[in-house]
Amino acid sequence: MSEFRGKRIVLGVTGGVAAYKAAELVRLLVKAGAEVDVAQTAAGAQFVGAATFQALTGRRVWHGLWDERMDSGMAHIDLTRGAAALLVAPATADFLAKLAHGLADDLLSTLCLARDCPLLVAPAMNRQMWENPATQRNIAQLRLDGVSILGPAYGEQACGELGDGRMLEAGELFDDLYASLQAKPFAGKHVLLTAGPTFEALDPVRGLTNSSSGKMGFALARACVDAGAEVTLIAGPVSLATPRGVRRVDVQTALQMRAAVMQSLPGQNVFIGVAAVADYRPRQTAPHKIKKGPGSLTLELEANPDILAEVAALPDAPFCVGFAAESRDLAAGAEGKRVAKKLALVVGNLVQDGLCGDTNAVTLFDAAGAHGLPLADKSEVARGIVAHIVALLGGQHVQH
Ligand code: C5P
Repeated sequence: MSEFRGKRIVLGVTGGVAAYKAAELVRLLVKAGAEVDVAQTAAGAQFVGAATFQALTGRRVWHGLWDERMDSGMAHIDLTRGAAALLVAPATADFLAKLAHGLADDLLSTLCLARDCPLLVAPAMNRQMWENPATQRNIAQLRLDGVSILGPAYGEQACGELGDGRMLEAGELFDDLYASLQAKPFAGKHVLLTAGPTFEALDPVRGLTNSSSGKMGFALARACVDAGAEVTLIAGPVSLATPRGVRRVDVQTALQMRAAVMQSLPGQNVFIGVAAVADYRPRQTAPHKIKKGPGSLTLELEANPDILAEVAALPDAPFCVGFAAESRDLAAGAEGKRVAKKLALVVGNLVQDGLCGDTNAVTLFDAAGAHGLPLADKSEVARGIVAHIVALLGGQHVQH
């Protein structure tokens, strides 16, 4: 994880019980390479102590306007200089109201006014406070002022009530913050992906499948959203959380995957087939468990459609990208598939490098040749693939 390498984030913590999630967010950011400066309001300091944030960030926590640690004596200005973003999480109803009116009577509100970096807020409050017209007015004003509002989520609240107003979870805030800092070369583009394995039932409990984890496809879906695309992900059976902002359709079999792809296809600019689709399915699925017998068992299989080849052959086909997982002769296998399926790009990898793990080493095969990407986290590999697709769509030859 190196999403925030070289970036400094200023995190404002105001007085809400969700401040405990801010501590977890700091941990995630630091793990991803960020330097984090925490500024607490007086109320914020009532919930999670400065010692916690100091230990997590390795840096002193900022509180007052009159803090003398900054040589200039102007912490309220200097703290956000050079920062990638200022995120207030949790942001209380009171703090949002101050922000909407430009009040600046403590360090954090002054930082918000005097900043020259993007401002994001993660509201956290009781559902009635959130729904109150005053809060909604303030939120609308903040949106107009260019402030990004992250959440809130619906769910159980500290007061025991159920509704909108829960602060997003730390991982969600991390994803949203990261996405907000990315360039948006895919803005206005629609991307459709398949991911994971398919499962072809033999009987009610058994089936044919393969060991694809879906991680590469999900990482790509996220990278496409981060790059500004509208993303639809057709997922086989995997146990992965849906990346934020992705429309997900769950399927089991190759035929269901094909149907979901065809239904979602109109209007798509890019189709990326990452799924490890079963090449064959049982000719028949037994309605009850197949019983063990004394002899051998013969299964009759029939071929599944090749979804990617079918999409690529359409007269108005989107820009098509395939994956080729080979156990040997990567270049011959991957380039062969690219030509045979008429694809703009094939992402090839050796199964021993990528299957089910969190890292992958891939080579990109396009009309101009082969381009290797170094072994990296699947999320980083996904960003490299997206950058390559963006460049190809823009008509550029790419050197990695
Ligand atoms: O021919 P092979 O299965 O190795 O090709 C892999 C590529 O084709 C992947 O992008 C995969 O998602 C896609 N594919 C497909 N439908 C199939 C088989 C493969 O879309 N039935």
